[in-house]
Amino acid sequence: MSPRLVPARDDSVRRTDRPLTVTVDGTPVPGVAGQTLAGVLLAAGRTAWRTGRGGAPRGVFCGIGVCFDCLVTVNGERDVRACMRRARDGDAVTTQSRASAAPDAPGSAPDAPGSAPAPTPAPAPAPEQP
Ligand code: FES
Repeated sequence: MSPRLVPARDDSVRRTDRPLTVTVDGTPVPGVAGQTLAGVLLAAGRTAWRTGRGGAPRGVFCGIGVCFDCLVTVNGERDVRACMRRARDGDAVTTQSRASAAPDAPGSAPDAPGSAPAPTPAPAPAPEQP
């Protein structure tokens, strides 16, 4: 079985899905209504669309919204979990890199297990001497 999306005109089952198109980094990618953005990307043959802090490719890891491996920017909204967002016709998806985010930016998501460790915080200042 192929993970690729079979175009409706070539589908021997004659499904009646409503097609949609999202753009991924400016490239049109077809999907069907009801798919998540991750589903659209996977069906288009993409298995990774983000890089972790150490440069490792990231895509779907858990598929249930827990690991934050699948983050993309959607219509200008950063850090959207592709596995949790239903694709809408015309969505503009841009891939993102952990390296492009500020290290401690509010709302920045953690990397998945196995990625480079987060920087350790600076030690607390020594107490004043009397
Ligand atoms: S794949 Fe884990 S949050 Fe999306």
